[in-house]
Amino acid sequence: MLTQKNLHRKPIGVFDSGIGGLTVARALFELLPNENIIYLGDTARLPYGTKSKETVILYSIECLKFLLSKKVKMVVVACNTASSVAVPFLQKITKLPVEGVLNPGSKSAAERTKNNRIGVIGTLGTVKSNAYKKAIKKINPAVNVYSQPCSLFVQLAEDGWTDNKIALLTAQEYLKNLNKCNIDTLILGCTHYPILKKTIGKVVGENVTLIDSGEETAKAVKRTLEEMNLLNTQKKKGIHKFFVTDFPNNFKIISERFLGRNIRDVKKVKLS
Ligand code: DGL
Repeated sequence: MLTQKNLHRKPIGVFDSGIGGLTVARALFELLPNENIIYLGDTARLPYGTKSKETVILYSIECLKFLLSKKVKMVVVACNTASSVAVPFLQKITKLPVEGVLNPGSKSAAERTKNNRIGVIGTLGTVKSNAYKKAIKKINPAVNVYSQPCSLFVQLAEDGWTDNKIALLTAQEYLKNLNKCNIDTLILGCTHYPILKKTIGKVVGENVTLIDSGEETAKAVKRTLEEMNLLNTQKKKGIHKFFVTDFPNNFKIISERFLGRNIRDVKKVKLS
């Protein structure tokens, strides 16, 4: 409960469909170094991006319940697909603040666009949900939003093919329609896409501002914790714990690629 004593010392819970959400966790670690953070990657059921809305909601509820069992003070939905379809359902289950990556990314894009033309790239699930479009239009109805699913970017990022000719060709093909829309801002609406930022930037050109939803979410989380008087004021560095529902073969390499350092203290858990 929010009235509980010493709630500010409790961890922030973060979940994602897998390891990609470590890009969001990384932004949180950097901005909030004193916070204790619990990360859950639902690696056994990855990807969420190709699954139906109903399934993603169900899985997200299970992830939420796991984090609640760890007595977190706030929940961050790092997965864009889950943020697009599940956050309102999660907010019905808990009174704790639940922050997805969708609103912070949308807000930042709506504030930064000068010509009111924003592009959004994400998984099929995210794009199909139209959630970014709705969130941006709610902030500024005059903005035109153009969306494009870029499914292969997920695999490219996991394989570390981020800056080679395959990555470039893939980006050129996916982004050719968006490039005709005269956008000046592009939301990287998937956990994996910040890893491909350089290549995406090359293809859309330097006049297009790239929005990293993870970084924007970290700022929003900090604001929420400040407003609710829940910031951890301890001086020592926060403790980071990682949970996954499966250990994929390439877990170590991918997690290091996404987090920028090696990851210790990982436990496998079963969600029910
Ligand atoms: N984490 C997902 C997202 O941000 C990408 C991977 C998946 O499809 O599960 O949408």
